[in-house]
Amino acid sequence: MTAKKKPRVYLTRKLPDAVETRMRELFDAELNIDDAPRSPAELADAMAKVDVLVPSVTDRIDAALIGKAGPQLKLIASFSNGTDHIDVDAAAKKGITVTNTPNVLTEDTADMTMALIFAVMRRLVEGSQVLMERPGQWEGWSPTWMLGRRIGGKRIGIVGMGRIGTAVARRAKAFGLAVHYHNRSRINPATEEELEATYWESLDQMLARVDIVSINCPSTPATFHLLSARRLALMQPSSIIVNTARGDVIDEAALIQLLRDGKIAGAGLDVFQNEPAVNPKLLKLARDGRAVLFPHMGSATLEGRVDMGDKVIINIRAYFDGHRPPNRVLPGRD
Ligand code: DGY
Repeated sequence: MTAKKKPRVYLTRKLPDAVETRMRELFDAELNIDDAPRSPAELADAMAKVDVLVPSVTDRIDAALIGKAGPQLKLIASFSNGTDHIDVDAAAKKGITVTNTPNVLTEDTADMTMALIFAVMRRLVEGSQVLMERPGQWEGWSPTWMLGRRIGGKRIGIVGMGRIGTAVARRAKAFGLAVHYHNRSRINPATEEELEATYWESLDQMLARVDIVSINCPSTPATFHLLSARRLALMQPSSIIVNTARGDVIDEAALIQLLRDGKIAGAGLDVFQNEPAVNPKLLKLARDGRAVLFPHMGSATLEGRVDMGDKVIINIRAYFDGHRPPNRVLPGRD
């Protein structure tokens, strides 16, 4: 009896050692040891010969690239929760299954959302810079210096109450924030009651009434610039916005203008519209203490990344064992 041929699996980025070791045991895996992002031509080459592509959020797997895939490419097992970088419809039309890695980065991303809220409201980065960038120049404690804003007692408005939004709500409640949320549909009554959460069918109305806006919805055509110039202008001048979802959910140019004009008090951004490029005007705002910027670190924990890798492996194995992969992404998102 001949041994079953291992599927050819192409990893576009370097993954944690434990994940790569397991991948090499189970699959005919081509790794990316130096972690250099692959060009579209390199991706096309790989997609013409391998059975499984394992991309990450830094790869744009669009319809043109999918069109060039060979008939042997059966699965795109993304090392990511979000799948906005993959044209899932084009893949489905070509008979290619797409999977992602949901659940395992929920808590880490919710932690990062809270970290951004604290960083902006309590001026954490500015405070650290005083010591790090001007050593020896700190004149000591002062009653009126470096004042931030109290977290407890404020209202948070969560845009997108899926897994991550709900995890943010749990944390927010624990820190004494009143939870408000906007979602396509209302969450189940038991969870709403547990979180003492107020549902706003109208995003516009919620934006005008909360102190902290947290973006936790996926990037889809329907959420592109959901926080438009008009909607951002509804926020109170003392309010802040944090985003750990995707940059294109916010009209970044409009946000910059409102921050510069003092019509929004601060922003905490882990994601950007043209990532990895960051608008220099945002960097200037960060230097002036009106924004805190992180380089897409929401899910960046060792545990999270290993769990994501495990999910990728489970999806590949399930597919080649003839089962439906547990994290299949269905086409037809709006
Ligand atoms: C994802 O997986 O979608 C995250 O944004 C990566 O951190």
